[in-house]
Amino acid sequence: MPLNPNTPFHSAGLPEDMSVLRRALETTLAGIPGVNKAGTEQRILNLACGRADETGVLADVFGRDAERLEIVGADIRSAEIEEASLRWRTEKESDLQTRFHVEDGKRFLAAMSSRERFDITFMRHQNFWNDPVLWERMFEGALRQLTDDGLFVLTSYFDVEHELACRKLTDLGAVKIADHRNPRSRKLSEAPGKSIDRHIAIFRRPPPSTPGP
Ligand SMILES: C[S@@+](CC[C@H](N)C(=O)[O-])C[C@H]1O[C@@H](n2cnc3c(N)ncnc32)[C@H](O)[C@@H]1O
Repeated sequence: MPLNPNTPFHSAGLPEDMSVLRRALETTLAGIPGVNKAGTEQRILNLACGRADETGVLADVFGRDAERLEIVGADIRSAEIEEASLRWRTEKESDLQTRFHVEDGKRFLAAMSSRERFDITFMRHQNFWNDPVLWERMFEGALRQLTDDGLFVLTSYFDVEHELACRKLTDLGAVKIADHRNPRSRKLSEAPGKSIDRHIAIFRRPPPSTPGP
């Protein structure tokens, strides 16, 4: 579903980063069934979303064929959430709705009803290495709120943090179904070894446990 920003991006390079992200997501998703379910309602949770610059890309890539689309973002930083809310505000009657919350992701997920489910949970530039206990909680909550065939999609800036996050998700029972090293990832000159959306991985929630004999 097309979603255009209400306010321009501040950084001149951002549209190019978004175009690279879109391409990398499409490549990573290729061959994964059920990503765009035509005529259905799709719900996307963007956790630790910051300014959520990628909201338009998410609407295109995951909501292209949806009849209704809802994108929910959450981050602890209020200035970034305020900017996201302004840039991606949608009309009340639109089939595409966005809402952004200033919330601690762990608390946000813990307070969520178990009936509230998302088709996609997205974490761009996850930060697991920086606070493993906090991010493990967010990973657990994000997996719990997924629909049965939902997808947990994350991106990482550098190799080690990507490996650590993927290992933790596997330990939590999630099943990795795709892992892509983005060849067009933009290098960060001030941070050697890091680049924008360097890795993308996709997981499914843990399979239901099989009944014992
Ligand atoms: C590396 S930044 C990525 C931001 C954004 N997803 C992006 O790619 O531009 C990590 C984000 O995690 C957020 N964060 C850290 N702790 C959090 C928490 N407890 N709950 C929600 N967000 C948190 C930070 O505010 C920050 O925006």
